[in-house]
Amino acid sequence: MKQFLFVTDLDNTLVGDDEALAVLNQKLSKHRQAYGTKIVYATGRSRALYQELQKEKQLIEPDALVAAVGTEIYYPDTENPNSEWEETLCQGWHRETVFAIAAQFSALVPQPASEQSLFKISFFIEKEAAFEILPKLEKLFQEKGLRVQMIYSSERDLDLLPERANKGFAMQFLRSKWGISSTHTVVCGDSGNDIALFSVGDERGIIVGNAQPELLHWHNANPAPHRYLAKAHFAAGILEGLKYFGFL
Ligand code: GLC
Ligand code: MG
Repeated sequence: MKQFLFVTDLDNTLVGDDEALAVLNQKLSKHRQAYGTKIVYATGRSRALYQELQKEKQLIEPDALVAAVGTEIYYPDTENPNSEWEETLCQGWHRETVFAIAAQFSALVPQPASEQSLFKISFFIEKEAAFEILPKLEKLFQEKGLRVQMIYSSERDLDLLPERANKGFAMQFLRSKWGISSTHTVVCGDSGNDIALFSVGDERGIIVGNAQPELLHWHNANPAPHRYLAKAHFAAGILEGLKYFGFL
């Protein structure tokens, strides 16, 4: 047993089964105490919505919070997102123009103001409409020379982000800060915005059994020996995967 870096999505990955969450929390806390294992939450939520979830559920204090789909990184007890990370996101990001182009499509319904930020523009769009509109939107961005990352999750959420902003790059930023190798890192997720965690490198990956179609589809098209599809759902799926890889 030794130190590892544990990175997990929250909604429908870590959170969803309170009993399994309590078991996992206990094991991770012990591991952190004994070996200095690092715990990171990588969520699509803004920090404000994360804090709401924190009040509702028993979440242990992470060593870092990756919020707003990888566009913000917070260390414990700091009010502002990490500025070094934000500086890398500015390059080539034209928020106003990106928003104006997307706003032309009436099927794209803006998410609440709390979920819009400097480096994240988010909409709701249903599956059928997304199928038709996302390729058009991508083409428009290309024609204007705008480098925009389009991430569609849970057949509902569309995030428009700078090129270098996603959960995967944010995870690797922390991993290199802490000097932990990819083989001692495990990432867990259930939906489209987690694909970046699984695709950025060869970190160990756990897809929970209740994963969304877009993630399963991607996984089936890109199978890899360092990625495990659990049978169990939510935190029970994470426990299953951690045992499979020998982390716990
Ligand atoms: C969370 C965020 C939302 C985002 C979604 C997918 O639900 O609150 O803004 O679109 O994750 O990344
Ligand atoms: Mg999720």
